[in-house]
Amino acid sequence: MIHDVNQTMPFSFTSPEFMQNPYPFYDMLRSQHPLHWGTLFKYPGWYVTGYEEALTILKDTRFKNRIPLPETSKKYEQLKNIQNNMLLFKNEPDHKRLRLLVSNVFTPRIVESYRPYIQKTVNDLLQQVQNKKTMDVVSDFAFPLASLIIAKILGIPQEEQYQFREWAASLIPTIDFTRSRKALINGNIMIIVLQDYFKELIKKCKRSPEEGLINQLINEEQQGDRLTDEEILATCILLVIAGHETTVNLISNSILALLNHPRQLMELKGKPWLIESAVEEFLRYESPTQMTARIASEDIEIKQTTIKKGDQIYILLGAANRDPRKFKNAHLLDITRNPNHHLAFGYGAHFCLGAPLARLEAQLAIQTLLDRADNLKLAAPEPQWRKLIGFRALNELPITFDRVGI
Ligand code: HEM
Repeated sequence: MIHDVNQTMPFSFTSPEFMQNPYPFYDMLRSQHPLHWGTLFKYPGWYVTGYEEALTILKDTRFKNRIPLPETSKKYEQLKNIQNNMLLFKNEPDHKRLRLLVSNVFTPRIVESYRPYIQKTVNDLLQQVQNKKTMDVVSDFAFPLASLIIAKILGIPQEEQYQFREWAASLIPTIDFTRSRKALINGNIMIIVLQDYFKELIKKCKRSPEEGLINQLINEEQQGDRLTDEEILATCILLVIAGHETTVNLISNSILALLNHPRQLMELKGKPWLIESAVEEFLRYESPTQMTARIASEDIEIKQTTIKKGDQIYILLGAANRDPRKFKNAHLLDITRNPNHHLAFGYGAHFCLGAPLARLEAQLAIQTLLDRADNLKLAAPEPQWRKLIGFRALNELPITFDRVGI
């Protein structure tokens, strides 16, 4: 029997109720069946809410990775060209080749070498708000932090990172499932701006090689194979957009989760060594990437359900991470949870390349904030979530706190 998402869900995925709190709706679907068929998005497909089922699909490379752009249109041609060259939307054999070249220059060891710079940036940002005793976590802390770090890693001059917010605001909606024609057209305009910007930067790097990821991407060679200029361009844009936005959301969502759980906040303040497991729990509890998609390359049977060749599959990572069959008290925030094999960074061939960077930034940002500020409080009763389905992102997170000495 096929379970129809339109019959089980009383609201659409874009309703305000869903945006504020998607978890009861995920539960509603999962409790009937971990796989539902539905026509909620432009492309009908399967909605996966169960952990085991999500894991099985992510592991199986017969499920291909791509979000098809609606029928080719000259209006979003540049956007399509760039997305086609992105690691995230590639499949074998191209994916393996590209992933090897990029992962060689973006290793956990290289990320770790940025620890002192990340810590200094966190300190500087907190110093700027200390006397005010109030800040918007999103725009005063998480956003500038993630921008400054990715700019430093790529070798983008600091004064130019002010553009990141506009770039991300236009491009994130093009990879979200709520995307409209207008969002795609806007995204296409923005991608032309980014293309020109990065082409110039890549040219500059080739003329006068300096430290930085772009130079490493230019020079990286594996058995005579190198990244093409289009691939370097698409990789830079992927790192700035996808990696940056999700890290902002991880930091902001984590702080909101702590403010809503004051006992856990006090526990983390008193036991700073819990920061690593706490960040894993924030990733599970309010996953910044809520959904990813695949397409079946042949007929495949999952849970006595036949997924037909060409079917779309929407993997609700945020739902899988709250599956009570996998996580005890799945809706409870527990910063000591162990084990915690969440799927917030995906799984398998496309597992997030930026996970070590995201983890490090979040650990240093949250720990330093708890260290420096007492009496942290929400300054708005119910923070509003952005109208996105694939990402869990706050519009803003105003807080107040008491100053403590550095
Ligand atoms: C909390 C922050 C982050 C989250 C939740 C996150 C989440 C994800 C997820 C779920 C995927 C897999 C998508 C799929 O399988 O379809 C992914 C892939 C990827 N992420 Fe992240 N990400 C984060 C931060 C970053 C950062 C900081 C970077 C780099 C600066 C980054 C770069 C990438 C890249 C390059 C891929 C594609 C890997 C591939 O296709 O082989 N991410 N990310």
